[in-house]
Amino acid sequence: MRYLVSANWKMNKTVAESLEYLEIFLPKVEDITAVDIMIAPSFTALASASLKLEHSHVYLGAQNMYYMDKGAFTGEISPLMLTELDVDYVILGHSERRHLFCEKDDLINKKMISAVEHGIRPILCVGETLEERELGKTLNVVEKQIRTAVAGIEKDMIYIDIAYEPVWAIGTGVNATPKQAQEVHRFIRELISDISKGNDEKTRILYGGSVNDKNASELIKEPDINGFLVGTASLDPDKFFNIISHVIEA
Ligand code: 13P
Repeated sequence: MRYLVSANWKMNKTVAESLEYLEIFLPKVEDITAVDIMIAPSFTALASASLKLEHSHVYLGAQNMYYMDKGAFTGEISPLMLTELDVDYVILGHSERRHLFCEKDDLINKKMISAVEHGIRPILCVGETLEERELGKTLNVVEKQIRTAVAGIEKDMIYIDIAYEPVWAIGTGVNATPKQAQEVHRFIRELISDISKGNDEKTRILYGGSVNDKNASELIKEPDINGFLVGTASLDPDKFFNIISHVIEA
C-alpha cells in the first residue's frame, strides 16, 4: 500500500502565499515517489495551485464540496468546479465542518457519493470529542460516522481514504499516542472488512491531530497508520517535508 501524506491548510494562505510555499516545497519533493503527497489549499488558491502542480506528482485537494453539480446553492462549490481544476482529492466530514458548520452524517454521505461519482477521491474524516472518549464511546462514534458516510458506496471503498482525527487532538498540540491511534485504526480496518470484504487491506487509514515533525516517526511505525492528514505543521514547507521524510523512512 502506498502511504499518503496530506496537508490541510484550512483557512490559511492567500493565493500569493500559497504560490510562495509551493516555490519552496516542490523542489524538495521533486524526487519523492515512494509516497503520495497531497496539498489542500483554500478554494481561492486552487486554480493557481493547480497550474503550479501540473508538472509535479503532488496531488491537489479541496477542503470541502457540495454534492450537487450546479444550482441555487449560494456560497457552495460543486464537484464539476473541482474536476475542472484537476482536483484529485476532497476532504469530507472534517470535524471543523461537523462542529462549527453543523454538517451531519447524511449530508456527508451525499457528498461522499457525489465525490466518488465524479472521480474525486474523498478523504473521510472521523473522530470523537474528548467527552465521547471519556465516556468510552470512541469506537461507537467512529463506527457510526463511517457506516453512514459510505452507505450506498460500500463497493467503492477502494477509492476512499479515511482519516482518524480525534477532535481533542486537532490544533491542540496534544496528539493521540501511537497506541491510542493504533487501537482506533485497527478497529477501522476491521470495520472496513465488514463493510466491504477484501478492501480492508487497500483502504488507507490516515491519522490527523497535532501531527508534527517530532511525533510523526513514532506514529507511522504503527501497522495500521498509513499516512497523515496534517494541519498546523503543514503550513511550514520545511516541517511538512520533514514529516514526509519520516513516513518514507518508516
Ligand atoms: P492540526 O495538525 O493542526 O492538529 O490539524 C489536524 C487537522 O485537522 C487536519 O485535517
